[in-house]
Amino acid sequence: MAAHAGSRLIGAVLLRVDRATSTNDLLRDLAARGAREGTVVVAREQSGGRGRMGRPWLSPPGGLWLSLLLRPPDPADGRIGLAVAVGVAEAVRTITGAAVGLKWPNDLMLDGRKVGGILVESAPPLVIVGIGVNANVDPAALPAETSGTATSLAAALGREVDLDAVLAAVLAGIDDVYGAFRAGHLGEVLARWRDLSVTLGRPVRIRNGAEVLEGTAIDIDNDGALLIERSDGGRSRVIGGDVTVLAGGGRA
Ligand code: BTN
Repeated sequence: MAAHAGSRLIGAVLLRVDRATSTNDLLRDLAARGAREGTVVVAREQSGGRGRMGRPWLSPPGGLWLSLLLRPPDPADGRIGLAVAVGVAEAVRTITGAAVGLKWPNDLMLDGRKVGGILVESAPPLVIVGIGVNANVDPAALPAETSGTATSLAAALGREVDLDAVLAAVLAGIDDVYGAFRAGHLGEVLARWRDLSVTLGRPVRIRNGAEVLEGTAIDIDNDGALLIERSDGGRSRVIGGDVTVLAGGGRA
């Protein structure tokens, strides 16, 4: 089904499918056939959903699984994921009341657990951004290895959320922040990311392959890289990896 929503870019063309292997792959095929920037694909379930670092992403019915097509000035710009994460988190907070925060680079967190994530796949000149939110998913249905580290909006709120309302809010939220990004208002986008951060001011461990780094996450720089103050007093600039927020430290 295709719908058109006024002058908005994100979701002006919206395709809903019952099942996809991965909405990122489906959208990549549509892009190869000329889909325009802002096109969104939403699946009720995915049989081969994937996450960052090549991990599988379990995507049963009840979750919000979507991908969107962007044509940014620089498809390798790491701030695209940060911007999209801001749009999703702000929208989910507003429409559901859930206090969703962001863990660098773009994990959606709720009550210290992961409630969603964003997978940015660059295919110059295009970028495909996959967004997964465990909306009405039973956390017991998620992989055992995520037990204790993953949650869903429904589990945290104690009630189901209206998936269509969350989708509409998320598309409007991304449209807003991507508009600011495209207009060059990077300072504003990064400030909105900082406001949502559950990482900054906290002791963290970062794994990137075999590399492990520990310290306090002090800020993100203008390029969206994470700045770490190590226990030896030195600073490291991190551009990729998996962040674990360690117990203790400053602001939540
Ligand atoms: C992460 O590892 O945190 C990113 C998860 C991204 C999952 C979404 S669900 C919709 C889209 N299609 C996929 O196969 N992955 C993304």
